[in-house]
Amino acid sequence: MAGSMGDSAPDTGQREPYLYRERTKYSPEEEERLERQHFWKIIDAFRYYRTHVQERVNRTERQFRSLPQKHQRLLSGFLPNLAKIRRCVDQNYEVLQAIVHNCIHMFENIEYGDDDNTRKVGPSSTFDMDKLKSTIKQFVRDWSETGKAERDSCYTPLVEEIQRQFPPDQCDASKVSVLVPGAGLGRLTWEIARLGYACQGNEWSFFMLFSSNFVLNRCEKVNDLMLYPWVHQFSNNKLSADQTRPVYFPDVNPQSLPPNSNFSMTAGDFLEVYTDPNTWDCVATCFFIDTAHNVVDYIETIWNILKPGGVWINLGPLLYHFENMANELSIELSYEDIKDVILKYGFQLEAERESVLTTYTENDRSMLKYLYDCVFFVVRKPADHLSNGALSPKDNQLDNSVEKGETAT
Ligand SMILES: C[S@@+](CC[C@H](N)C(=O)[O-])C[C@H]1O[C@@H](n2cnc3c(N)ncnc32)[C@H](O)[C@@H]1O
Repeated sequence: MAGSMGDSAPDTGQREPYLYRERTKYSPEEEERLERQHFWKIIDAFRYYRTHVQERVNRTERQFRSLPQKHQRLLSGFLPNLAKIRRCVDQNYEVLQAIVHNCIHMFENIEYGDDDNTRKVGPSSTFDMDKLKSTIKQFVRDWSETGKAERDSCYTPLVEEIQRQFPPDQCDASKVSVLVPGAGLGRLTWEIARLGYACQGNEWSFFMLFSSNFVLNRCEKVNDLMLYPWVHQFSNNKLSADQTRPVYFPDVNPQSLPPNSNFSMTAGDFLEVYTDPNTWDCVATCFFIDTAHNVVDYIETIWNILKPGGVWINLGPLLYHFENMANELSIELSYEDIKDVILKYGFQLEAERESVLTTYTENDRSMLKYLYDCVFFVVRKPADHLSNGALSPKDNQLDNSVEKGETAT
């Protein structure tokens, strides 16, 4: 893994109430201590997985056994299916242990202490277990043949736009720097790098970072590994076997990037890692902007880090991640308001599609499916923008850019 941890703990899950713009209130030592604590909490979540899911299966078994005998006899396949579910969970657990194996050496600039294996793994929170289950499903989206249709709907519009903006036959793609904040398991970043662009993914969640490190650096053989991503879904199955069907990964060899490719991943909060102005030719965000406490912070950072003339390409919904979290700041803006702010910063709107239908880690056999009606847009920081771009609403500059933005559309 190239890249290093950002300065702060990557998750606010166990922290005190969010205080806007006061995330640096801890001393560097305290920050490090919190980060170490968080790191081990997520490792523990990977280790607790089997116990957590097996307990869930135990509950189902107990309830089944409490039914009248004649009902149980009518459902002769039920217990064998539960036994199968247990085997799937064991297989998932094996992969999860491989993912966290040797993770303490993953980051270049931080020591997490020894993994002596004697630490008692206590129960993890439901929140962390849900994140782990989502991470398992993320393998389907990013690194399986099953996820291809989803990648085609989510990643292809971004990739095609990058190729349109920076045609490889008209520029030196290796000199075009593309940043993918909220990179998940890294497939979009990888695809962009595969086309010859200098592409860096940034990610903040240890669940994702451990997993992307595993798939990118330690998996080579196509479809060599297996996960059961839907095994936690007890409702909305048409066939019992739908719950226990495997998905194979990786669908491509992640190590097969062309020689001299420029691909990297960094760890840490996008807002804290990316502060150098006028650095990137392109920022590509996919299902990312709604992860913000305050999406205006993201817009401001993207404006700041793009070179004059650089483009921001976005695709995604607005499912605000912090909306229902106690003690977390969450500003839920409509797309209309977001667009207005983007233009006020001075971005020029170059393309916009307000209805791109996509899915996200979809179980294609489930009786319940979610469809996202996403927005796709391309906005440019004007080439003649000479300041360092470090604009903030308190600057008087914003008034000038309001005019600029409005004339641009
Ligand atoms: C909904 S997922 C999308 C992942 C990927 N772009 C995709 O389309 O599959 C959002 C990702 O952004 C990451 N993320 C959220 N806040 C972040 C931040 N402040 N800095 C970096 N990554 C962040 C999350 O951990 C998560 O992996």
